[in-house]
Amino acid sequence: MNPSDLPSTAAVARTSGSRIAIASSPEATMPVTRALFDEIMVPCYAPAAFIPVRGEGARIWDQEGRMYIDFAAGVAVSSLGHCHPAAVRALDEQGHKLWHVSNWFTNEPALRLAQRLIDHTFAERVFFGNSGAEANEAALKLARRYAHDRHGAHKVRVISTTNSFHGRTLMTVTAGGQPKYSSGFGPNPAGFTHIRYNDVAALEAVFAEGGDDICAVLLEPMQGEGGMTPGTPEFLQAARRLCTQHGALLILDEIQSGMGRTGALFSYMQKGIVPDILTSAKGLGGGFPIGAMLTTTEIASAFSVGVHGTTFGGNPLACHVAGAVFDVINTTEVLDGVKARHALFMEGLRAINQRRPVFADLRGEGVWLGCELAEAWRGKAGAVMQAAGNAGVLVLMAGPDVVRLAPPLTISLDEILEGLARLERAIDAALPH
Ligand SMILES: Cc1ncc(COP(=O)(O)O)c(C=O)c1O
Repeated sequence: MNPSDLPSTAAVARTSGSRIAIASSPEATMPVTRALFDEIMVPCYAPAAFIPVRGEGARIWDQEGRMYIDFAAGVAVSSLGHCHPAAVRALDEQGHKLWHVSNWFTNEPALRLAQRLIDHTFAERVFFGNSGAEANEAALKLARRYAHDRHGAHKVRVISTTNSFHGRTLMTVTAGGQPKYSSGFGPNPAGFTHIRYNDVAALEAVFAEGGDDICAVLLEPMQGEGGMTPGTPEFLQAARRLCTQHGALLILDEIQSGMGRTGALFSYMQKGIVPDILTSAKGLGGGFPIGAMLTTTEIASAFSVGVHGTTFGGNPLACHVAGAVFDVINTTEVLDGVKARHALFMEGLRAINQRRPVFADLRGEGVWLGCELAEAWRGKAGAVMQAAGNAGVLVLMAGPDVVRLAPPLTISLDEILEGLARLERAIDAALPH
């Protein structure tokens, strides 16, 4: 029988390649409201009452056409603001070339992005994933495998800090020092010890008591989610020294602090320490999901073919966009601009605090700022965040007492001034006299 006589042949022909009809389903354009979220989504978020539909630079518009100044950039993600022309061009270019190949192949954008990361950091090897948690998961697995192969099966313990945040997989919530994220999912992975952040004596004690079984110390250079608490130079340097002395690896989680946010490409570059493994995500793709783990050739050699992997890791679309984002961020102009914006933000926030002292402390680096509420207003960061939305400026919180600002690195002067004016109105609404 001739195959062209088979009904299945016609069906295959109709749906092959780009011949399938481009039909838009009614669902593709149906009107949606915020209320629908509560009806159909798994209830693990509490999104704002409005739905953002469009963004440009550091501005976002909602369904009603209302404009918001963006002091949040997602959560420190949209590093170049929304729809930056270089990122849009890259997305369009790659969108017309090749979206995906499996890791049975490599691809040009992934290699080009890895080469950039290697040329501009301590790293010699790169592993790509899709998120921050996945980058940290890879880092922890690599540290354990490296210790296992080099030192023996006893060297499994990871030291991390209370109040830290490293992601939401079971391994990374366990590493993170916040029981509210890790309890109720047990049994959690074993082998994690938490010490207080910035407590050099506690770090020394944990190594003195049983340093032989420690395979890694995992730290954020500044605790972001945990309250915008900067790591002291003494603590970060002690971590580096003790890891070296005890054959443990220093993993720096630069998922929030990296890609220009502090005014350096990565924060470690300003801290006088070099990690063994660094994790990046958030700002790396400027809004396109991607994560990366960076390390040395020696440490990377503990992974071999098939030992670790992920379907979408090194996706050509993500890597081509991230490459374009990298090229814009990694310039003196943008990185120095971040430092200049820091000064402007601090000046504006201090002026707000002089008119009405609501902040006990203003801190941070680059365009990554923590405004700690004064005693009388403790616990009210969520209320300020909500009032800010109502006043037309998007801000974040870092725990109940700290209002966090993490705008695009390229936010304009006018947007900073307008956003601060809106924030001041929000403070008055949320924290009545
Ligand atoms: C320091 C740090 N590490 C890890 C993560 C987890 O990243 P993701 O949500 O992309 O998994 C975050 C996210 O907030 C973070 O701030």
